[in-house]
Amino acid sequence: MPNFQEKALVQAHEQLAPDIFRLTVHSPQIAQASAPGQFVMIKSSNTSDPLLRRPFSIHDVTSGGMLHLLYKVIGKGTRCLQNLSPGEQTDLIGPLGHGFQFSVQEPACLLGGGMGIAPLLYLAKSLQNVSSPRQDHQILLGARTSVELAPLVDDFQQLGYTVQAATDDGSLGHHGFVSELLEEVLPSVRTVYVCGPHPLMAAIARQCQAADVPCQVSLETHMACGLGACLGCTIYAPDKSYRHVCKHGPVFDANEVLWTL
Ligand SMILES: Cc1cc2nc3c(=O)[nH]c(=O)nc-3n(C[C@H](O)[C@H](O)[C@H](O)COP(=O)(O)OP(=O)(O)OC[C@H]3O[C@@H](n4cnc5c(N)ncnc54)[C@H](O)[C@@H]3O)c2cc1C
Ligand code: FES
Repeated sequence: MPNFQEKALVQAHEQLAPDIFRLTVHSPQIAQASAPGQFVMIKSSNTSDPLLRRPFSIHDVTSGGMLHLLYKVIGKGTRCLQNLSPGEQTDLIGPLGHGFQFSVQEPACLLGGGMGIAPLLYLAKSLQNVSSPRQDHQILLGARTSVELAPLVDDFQQLGYTVQAATDDGSLGHHGFVSELLEEVLPSVRTVYVCGPHPLMAAIARQCQAADVPCQVSLETHMACGLGACLGCTIYAPDKSYRHVCKHGPVFDANEVLWTL
């Protein structure tokens, strides 16, 4: 799969919630080559500090070569990213990794927790083109609170999907974990696509395995290079062999991962 290093002009930088931003850049080569579930390594500042690029899922691709990233500010890199303004230039490498397999025309469940929702919007959009009607798919989204979740729920609703939401504090949708919504929809879907915190993905993988429903997980590990060179993103498969999330993933069949939780 080809990937590119591309200078990209910032087109928009929208604040969705106190620490959550959506960055839109003009990156036509990466946008055109990308598939749902793939990611980019972005330079978060125009100086050498921080030195390392940061990995982010491709959140959406829109006409004119626009690439959208959704991110939460958690440390130095994302604090620098937050300072990028429209008209400024950044630098991306991508699209990287293996994305979701979704060619089968069967009803699916897309389940995202927190910033794990990011890659699911692009997947939801792509499912509209190749798969069964929107109402056959189940969208389950969870976050800590309504302020963080509501703008993301809107995105999926604008695509015509019905969304079931869950928040830790009960301020939107189900009061509890988004995993608690899965049991009810599992019998009606043929594949579950999930991205979110590791314990959430481990729980969903167990639920799907018990119900014999295929599950694809998009893993997030620390990444220094994103290109298979530093070995910093290693995980174990059940037979204790290594996998590199940047190269073999980030999307894996849940049964290919040794879940430690
Ligand atoms: C393939 C992939 C896709 C991703 N997609 C998104 C996305 O769409 N949106 C988004 O907000 N984030 C995403 N992430 C996570 C994102 O890369 C990190 O939040 C970011 O690199 C943090 O950089 P920082 O310099 O701000 O924080 P740092 O200063 O590097 O870290 C701050 C704190 O967060 C912890 N941390 C950093 N990265 C991770 C990680 N990957 N997993 C667990 N803990 C971590 C550190 O240990 C530290 O405690 C993705 C990660 C991967 C690997
Ligand atoms: S991040 Fe360097 S090998 Fe995966």
